[in-house]
Amino acid sequence: MQDLLAAAIQRRRPLLERAVAEGTDALRLLHGVAEGAPGLTVDRYGPILLVQTWRDPLPDGVLPRLEEVAAEALGTGLTAVWNHRPASAREYARLHAVELPQAVVATELGLRFDARPRHRGNDPLLFLDLRTLRRRVIAHGARTVLNLFSYTCGVGTAALRGGADQVWNVDFAASALDVGLANAALNDLPTDRVRQVHHDALPILRMLAGAKPGRRRPTIEVEPRTFELVVLDPPAFSKGPWGAVDVVRDYPTLLKPALACTAEGGVLAVTQHVASVSLEDFLATLRRTAEKLGRRVAIDVMEPEEDFPSFDGRPPLKIAWVRA
Ligand SMILES: C[S@@+](CC[C@H](N)C(=O)[O-])C[C@H]1O[C@@H](n2cnc3c(N)ncnc32)[C@H](O)[C@@H]1O
Repeated sequence: MQDLLAAAIQRRRPLLERAVAEGTDALRLLHGVAEGAPGLTVDRYGPILLVQTWRDPLPDGVLPRLEEVAAEALGTGLTAVWNHRPASAREYARLHAVELPQAVVATELGLRFDARPRHRGNDPLLFLDLRTLRRRVIAHGARTVLNLFSYTCGVGTAALRGGADQVWNVDFAASALDVGLANAALNDLPTDRVRQVHHDALPILRMLAGAKPGRRRPTIEVEPRTFELVVLDPPAFSKGPWGAVDVVRDYPTLLKPALACTAEGGVLAVTQHVASVSLEDFLATLRRTAEKLGRRVAIDVMEPEEDFPSFDGRPPLKIAWVRA
């Protein structure tokens, strides 16, 4: 495993040099099966080397060796943390105890993010494969942004950096929204331009699009309106009192209202994470939905950056930048 990590870092030399120049120290260093390491990923998050196993636990003695390889190749010592993903966040500490500071901050494109590798949830606090979208959102500079399924508001933070006047982050996880607001503050960005909408996204989206929220009354009511940029990055599946999010069987339930509340001439940035859904099918669903709404769209397909290599040119994460 250490040889695979050394080789993967070597392949990333040009990327790592660019990363330093642009203020990024949060990158994937070894990307699982695509780089010969099925069920294993290694990421750098600022001072942390985060090793995640998805199938077999890490054999004894491997973690310190990965730490050594990273220190030698990157020229800086990092604290290695191993999280075994089939376990729960509480069990991570039992499998691998490690002393960590209260605050762990990683930087991306000059922005600072909370990157504590151990917290209440299982996932890292910043998804590195979405850097490509955060980069584009900063450059795009929309004034009004709706960030649906925002998690820790990485895209919302990027939108503020891009100069947005109003950013709505919508998620039903209060702890993720709290991290998101703290991220904005960590970067001295204007938190008074942010609205943290702590609610199921489905009724919020329907109300914004001018439809009824559903049979059950939401605890937050919003008026219909549009945004210059709408970001739709849902999980594969989730179920709540307002219905199901199911991006394999029924993406249009989300796509329709999301397009409806994208301003004319605006952009809908939309993802599909499910590997078994092909890019072609994803794009066909998008086009069909737009056609039904009578919206003319121009779609630009985006890919994760080079730290997420794909062995077949078909990355599981598909991102569409839809000018609507
Ligand atoms: C894939 S993550 C989104 C990642 C995020 N866009 C980012 O930039 O890091 C999915 C998020 O959706 C939230 N979520 C899932 N179902 C939801 C629902 N029905 N309403 C609101 N939030 C939901 C979860 O709490 C989680 O934070």
